[in-house]
Amino acid sequence: MHIYPLTSTREVSKVVDVKQVNRTGQTVKAMEDIMKKVLKAVAAIVTLAMMAGAAGCASSAKDAFDKETTAAAETTAAAATTAAAADTTAAATTAGDVGTKDPTKLVMGTNAAFPPFEYVEGGAISGVDADLMAAIAAKLGLTLEISDMEFDSLPTALSNGQIDVIAAGYTVKPDREETMDFSDSYYTAAQTIIVLKDSKIATADDLKDKVIGVQTGTTGSWNAADYTAETNIKGFANGMLAVEALKNGQVDAVIIDNNPAKSYADENPDTLVLIENQFPAEDYALAVAKGNAVLLEKINTALAEMKADGSFDAIIAKYIK
Ligand code: ARG
Repeated sequence: MHIYPLTSTREVSKVVDVKQVNRTGQTVKAMEDIMKKVLKAVAAIVTLAMMAGAAGCASSAKDAFDKETTAAAETTAAAATTAAAADTTAAATTAGDVGTKDPTKLVMGTNAAFPPFEYVEGGAISGVDADLMAAIAAKLGLTLEISDMEFDSLPTALSNGQIDVIAAGYTVKPDREETMDFSDSYYTAAQTIIVLKDSKIATADDLKDKVIGVQTGTTGSWNAADYTAETNIKGFANGMLAVEALKNGQVDAVIIDNNPAKSYADENPDTLVLIENQFPAEDYALAVAKGNAVLLEKINTALAEMKADGSFDAIIAKYIK
């Protein structure tokens, strides 16, 4: 019989840093108790196994072993079930004191094709959201990491813990609030229609049954659905591609947020026209995984400080003229 060396209960509880897997602190005490019970039960099994082995499985020792093992196994099973339940709670949230997956990093997910909120320039990601999140990360003592991905992959990346926060000129919407939690708002935007200069489209009502280009998964696509059939909505990976399709005559109009719309129009002053004030205002906010109250609170505090001390306005002024 091979008996593995058993670390003492105290040593094992030191190795398992319960706080690492539970940032709420609410179930830390319970988990510590469970860990102790499990370790005691395991210690009992091993001790009895050693006794049984030493006695050459003498019947009295074996009887005692069976009885104790059953009792110990029951305790272990009960404790393990509770531990598993506690574990699920911990997994649904994230580790670390600030509520980020990695306690040293803040991983921001975005789609960096949305000027002036996020765009690639000189091999780096610039824009309002990049600067805002860099400042928030600094306040939280974390290193900012930016994960650039397809816009419609952001919600899944957030819920599976690949990213800690979505910062993407991201509009607060009840549908989205079902799967994530939003910070306080930091910007008010609205969808804008982009058409070619000679277009007959002059208001949102003229979009009826037209072919509309949008960025897939955005609020622009939801607005388009109010005017035209689903089959007439052409989704693109980013706004720039939708604008290219407009210039090529593949779509009749593009619906996109006002700031990127302006930047596309500025780049194409001879061909594009903007039709503004056709859709309701939208609030941009940062999104964290549903239930990540720790990170949400930290972000809201940092955001409030930046709004109060003028550093937020400075970022807006830097990117939006
Ligand atoms: N505000 C719109 C939305 O939330 C569009 C955001 C697009 N953002 C981006 N980084 N591509 O759906």
